[in-house]
Amino acid sequence: MVFYFSATGNSLWVAQYISNAFNEPLCDVSDFIRKQTKVGNRYALRDEAEMLFFVFPVHSWGPALVMQRFIRELQLDGLKGNRVFAIGTCGDDCGYTDRIFSKSLAEKGIFLEAFFSLKMPNNYILMRGFGIDPEQVKNEKLALAPHAMEQIVQAINARNYSESMILRTGMSWLKSYVVYPAFKNFMVGRQFFRTTDVCISCGLCAKICPTGTIVMLQGKPVWEGKECVQCTACIHRCPVQAIEFGRVSVGKGRYVHPVLVRKN
Ligand SMILES: Cc1cc2nc3c(=O)[nH]c(=O)nc-3n(C[C@H](O)[C@H](O)[C@H](O)COP(=O)(O)O)c2cc1C
Repeated sequence: MVFYFSATGNSLWVAQYISNAFNEPLCDVSDFIRKQTKVGNRYALRDEAEMLFFVFPVHSWGPALVMQRFIRELQLDGLKGNRVFAIGTCGDDCGYTDRIFSKSLAEKGIFLEAFFSLKMPNNYILMRGFGIDPEQVKNEKLALAPHAMEQIVQAINARNYSESMILRTGMSWLKSYVVYPAFKNFMVGRQFFRTTDVCISCGLCAKICPTGTIVMLQGKPVWEGKECVQCTACIHRCPVQAIEFGRVSVGKGRYVHPVLVRKN
């Protein structure tokens, strides 16, 4: 099984690649979080040969909070030495996401055989100084991704892993063990999201929000509750760019991976 979470499509593309390469089905963990599956958070493995993959974006040098929550709530039945892998997609640096995620899995009795990271176009635009990649950088990353995925598949098949397959640019301890907890405890939240007059009331933002934070009230999206994890799905995937985050996102470009363009 390939469990994945993806806000803007990068991790979805990776999950699809892995699903094809290892002939394992796909499961969007947002469906579990939003209680849209019949079985709740239980998953029973087919047999010992089933491989488990977790694919998600790196958020603030740690695993996306949607995936962390999924792991906390997951009940796995029939785990018997199955091979387990994780892939984090990131703009350029995943810090110690691998260590944090491996620990989360270990707390559930799941042993992570290997973690890989993959450089993909950046989608973080919620702070001053951060924006999507310039067109050329974005295209270069997308062009290199299939080769990087081939190498990941080869490494898994050969059981030959290397630290060099994890992107780190320095100060990982500070980023993952100081900034990531601060992000998780103090920064995430819906408070600055808003819609502008160009909203066409299509409801896509409410449909795709992984935490069910967005509800449609009188035809317009409203951010409610405390669950928002700032994944940025809503702000990037709005078809008319009607969502802003305070004034910080105004005038910044939006990004969606080509795999999602047809879906919207
Ligand atoms: C809240 C947030 C935090 C992010 N933090 C990082 C980061 O620490 N390092 C990094 O390289 N990219 C970071 N990014 C960029 C994403 O990891 C990257 O664009 C990812 O591939 C998006 O995957 P998705 O399209 O599947 O959602 C961040 C994005 C968001 C929304």
